[in-house]
Amino acid sequence: MADRSNGIRMDRWATRFGLVMAMAGNAVGLGNFLRFPGKAAPYGGAFLVPYLISFVLLGIPLMWMEWTIGRHGGRYGHGSTPGMFHRLWKHPVSKYLGIFGVLLPFIIALYYIYIESWALGYAWKTATGSYWGQTSRTQMSEVFTTYLGIGEGVLSFSPAAYMFFLITFAANIFVFSRGIEKGIEVLSKYAMPALVLLGIVLAARVLTLQGSGEQTVSRGLAQIWVIDWSMLKNPAMWMDATGQIFLTLSVGLGMLHTYASILRDEDDLTLNGLAACATNEFVEVILGGTIIIPAAAVFFGVGEFGEIIHKGSFADMGFQTLPVIFQEMWGGRFFGTIWFILLFLAGLTSSVAMFTPMLLFLRDELNLDHNRLVLWITAVAFILCQPVILFFHHGVLDELDDWAGTFFLVVFAAIEVVVFIWIYGLDKGWVEMHLGADLRIPKPFCHVMRFLTPLFLLALLAWFTVISPLANMHNEDALANTFYGKLFMMKIAEADVPYHWLGRAIILGVAAFLVWGVWQAWRTHPKFFDDSKNGKAE
Ligand code: PHE
Repeated sequence: MADRSNGIRMDRWATRFGLVMAMAGNAVGLGNFLRFPGKAAPYGGAFLVPYLISFVLLGIPLMWMEWTIGRHGGRYGHGSTPGMFHRLWKHPVSKYLGIFGVLLPFIIALYYIYIESWALGYAWKTATGSYWGQTSRTQMSEVFTTYLGIGEGVLSFSPAAYMFFLITFAANIFVFSRGIEKGIEVLSKYAMPALVLLGIVLAARVLTLQGSGEQTVSRGLAQIWVIDWSMLKNPAMWMDATGQIFLTLSVGLGMLHTYASILRDEDDLTLNGLAACATNEFVEVILGGTIIIPAAAVFFGVGEFGEIIHKGSFADMGFQTLPVIFQEMWGGRFFGTIWFILLFLAGLTSSVAMFTPMLLFLRDELNLDHNRLVLWITAVAFILCQPVILFFHHGVLDELDDWAGTFFLVVFAAIEVVVFIWIYGLDKGWVEMHLGADLRIPKPFCHVMRFLTPLFLLALLAWFTVISPLANMHNEDALANTFYGKLFMMKIAEADVPYHWLGRAIILGVAAFLVWGVWQAWRTHPKFFDDSKNGKAE
């Protein structure tokens, strides 16, 4: 199979530190700093209860499982989930189920890179002080829409936003084209420690802000940490917390599998997996929880603070509220620039992972040339980014995020849990997981993985698809936010409907291409997929 090892497959993680930093970098992203505070703050400290429960019952087990599936498939030369699933389950359908693991990260990249580029743009704007003097949230909201070029016209376009997008896109392609070891590992080794350091500096700055009267740092910390137990009855909070665990750890997407595919049997997976999870949680809960909300508590009165919390939109908090605060705090320009650089690095170390499954899928399974593929993937992704940017305010981005970034990752996680635990068998999986392990997972946890993880996931899916639409049947606003409401585009302005369909067409188009790719690969290179021919039968 040496002929298939034309590039990354020859790679292995150069160092253990590099591996953990790359995996943690994949997990630590915009979600940690923008989405987490936005989701947690409305519920207060109670949010942390379902959040930590899903971290243990879903997050950690999925992390270990995905590393195991990745290493197992990588042993046969597969760097993406269609091939990996085929090795776990010799059924003609398994490889098609694996398509999600290539599709979802690719689709997410199409909008994630754009949001990441805002951080770069705002780092520049903050460093040069271009919005200084616009000291209310309303004014900053105008700065933001102007930056994105949202106006009367059909297109959202501004030269500045577009230029920063081009720079960000180029940076991503540069790193991704160099492969996992030479690109992603090297980047993560430096960017992750830098990010943690910047996060600590910012958190320390926020904690030393001088409050007065009601407006204190502790009011903000209380908003994240003080538990109101009666909240635990709120099912929406449970769903938000679980959804956040998926998104923040990057599980259910196929990206971790790809990173894990270059692990060797002698490499530890349990301790390193746990280290990556722990790093992500430290950055999310401790650093992410200590920046936006406590800072907002110091600078805004009770009413406006409440409004910020309940609006909870990531763009509002990160790009409109914080810039107001930076203008008022001592050293604001400096700390503001640091904030946006931090966001950019967090985004970059995640987005460089997103095209890799596609690259390895086409390279390994269809036996195509690495450099030519980099060119093709870049070109196609670039074209597909255009509607996301230009029709931003018509909701193309939202449509992609609702499906690829919210719903299908739970579906894919459920599929993989069934395939790994019930079909391949957790007993075999457990042995596989412990090859080279430095940490023996306590045996009772095996039962948690066997029963609680799948049950939790199935309950989540049932909630999404059936229970919450039924429960909200008579409340149109709430119904519009459920799976049912999204599927039928309730509450989408008539003029925006075609753009939402465009978003769906992009997802379906890429999915159709991948179905063809799998069909073509298994038809044209059957030997590669046959255990007996390469002497690797289990
Ligand atoms: N986990 C990363 C984050 O928190 C990357 C990611 C983004 C994963 C979007 C899934 C969806 O930002």
